[in-house]
Amino acid sequence: IQKKALEKLETIQELRELEDFRVAYLGKKGELTSILKGMGSLSPEERPVIGQLANEVRNALEAGIAAAKERLIKAAREEKIRQETLDVTMPGRARKLGKKHPITLVLDEIKEIFLGMGYEIAEGPEVELDYFNFEALNMPRNHPARDTQDTFYITEDVLLRTHTSPVQARYMKDHKPPIRIICPGRVYRSDAVDATHSPIFHQVEGLVVDKGVTMGDLVGTLQVFAKGVFGENTRIRLRPHHFNFTEPSAEVDVSCWGCGGTGCRICKGEGWIEILGAGMVHPNVLRAGGIDPDVYSGFAFGLGIDRIAMGKFGIDDMRLLFENDIRFLRQF
Ligand code: PHE
Repeated sequence: IQKKALEKLETIQELRELEDFRVAYLGKKGELTSILKGMGSLSPEERPVIGQLANEVRNALEAGIAAAKERLIKAAREEKIRQETLDVTMPGRARKLGKKHPITLVLDEIKEIFLGMGYEIAEGPEVELDYFNFEALNMPRNHPARDTQDTFYITEDVLLRTHTSPVQARYMKDHKPPIRIICPGRVYRSDAVDATHSPIFHQVEGLVVDKGVTMGDLVGTLQVFAKGVFGENTRIRLRPHHFNFTEPSAEVDVSCWGCGGTGCRICKGEGWIEILGAGMVHPNVLRAGGIDPDVYSGFAFGLGIDRIAMGKFGIDDMRLLFENDIRFLRQF
């Protein structure tokens, strides 16, 4: 038995096979076990001889099985290591890098300018309450000025914000002056899509509230902004306008970067390009934000950054800004 078994042991290649082998010889119904069981029928002289022999065989098989087990485990480990070898000389896979979107590039520049003047960045939700988008901005329900905003309503009280001005109202509720913030974000209006209109666009709101803030501060701030974004020789021009949330209000143009304000194809001969609305914060808006208009004053502005990006980068169709075609984006 021993010779046959040990020879068989040599040929075993898998741990499972080894276990079957062990059961076949040493298990309860194994070959050797049955010999030991049959010892009762032997004569008293034979019993110790056979018993000793059987024990020797069992010891030899157990040792053989242990050795075979070690051999198999070692082989398995070596095989695993062999399979996991890395070829460190293999060339890597090239990853394609993305590019910053033109809107992001313009926004980065604008942030840099205002952060440099001590502003902080505030944000608000795009799905907004009617209260913050209109009511707190001195536009009560049924006010005709609401019609100019082409609002996407979700329910009677909830809408997609039509401008970033609601962030002003939210911020004033939670902060006391001095306030100096810009609020970049997406805004929504029910506009038909064409080369210069999109139902989704981007604004940057600005709000400053403190004691003694004047229209002169607003103009100076916008001049710094315009020169920073469009170049040192840029001038700005204010035209009287109406917004419910500012008084007085103005629309602000920058001198055209193509012709320096003398009239060219970019500005269609006008010399000026409209880029923002602004004004002194209306007392009702300060009051809605819990700020006393007899103590504090402030200015606010709202920039449309899609148009600024189009102007700066010579993009002639607004739709390109939303298609995210990598061939387009790679150019900036
Ligand atoms: N919210 C105005 C708009 O979207 C812009 C604006 C902001 C005007 C702040 C005045 C002050 O048209």
